[in-house]
Amino acid sequence: MMKAEYLLVSDLDDTFLGDRDALHRFAAFYERLRHELKIVYASGRFYRTIRRDIEDTPLPEPVAVIGGVGSEIRSHPGGELDQQWVKRISANWSADRIRELLSDEAKLALQPEDSQSDFKVSYFFRDASDEQLNRLRAKLFDNGIDASLIYSSSRDLDFLPEGVNKGTAAAFVARELGFDCDHTLVAGNSGNDSKLFEHDFRGIIVANAHQELKAYATDQRVYLSPHERADGVFDGVDHWMNRLNR
Ligand code: GLC
Repeated sequence: MMKAEYLLVSDLDDTFLGDRDALHRFAAFYERLRHELKIVYASGRFYRTIRRDIEDTPLPEPVAVIGGVGSEIRSHPGGELDQQWVKRISANWSADRIRELLSDEAKLALQPEDSQSDFKVSYFFRDASDEQLNRLRAKLFDNGIDASLIYSSSRDLDFLPEGVNKGTAAAFVARELGFDCDHTLVAGNSGNDSKLFEHDFRGIIVANAHQELKAYATDQRVYLSPHERADGVFDGVDHWMNRLNR
């Protein structure tokens, strides 16, 4: 019988990356799995720096990369933008208008230019409360902008088109590649990964995850690994593939 094929959609920073020895162990494990497991990276960063990581570290070659917290999907190694996704996320959105509306917010500091795009506006905002975030959301809504706010690591605040996040982008890619929820594994460590865990996929949370993400570990479809970073991803992939009819 043919072994089942799986798709792994995983975050990079502090999930796959951050422990080079662990990444080497994952790469060796992956050598044996190549034909059973396809990989997509889902990061808050954009493709240019992710591509550099793929070239400079033992990270396995992915088939696609979700960048900017879900705001873009690119093929790999070609790097072409998925135009169907662009079409889907463009309505009721203006990055310029968001920057303008939030320019008088004293607690917000714009992240560097290479973290911004036409579909992602990112700030630093230390220790924001839910009330503060709700007020910002309301301010944009009252001005005709439908934006999703994604807050991670008690520091990073991303504004994306409504409904755009790593979870919706992962669901879009999984459908394009022909994987259902039972054959799609997702892995992460922080707030911007949380939406990956709201799509009925099989989840992996690494031991070094922030509390904001560990809250998802009560779900039966989510596995909290006792191992950190790439060792946790390794353990999680092994856990799910053993459990799901190998
Ligand atoms: C990455 C991105 C940053 C974003 C953060 C959380 O660090 O570079 O722009 O705010 O992820 O999504």
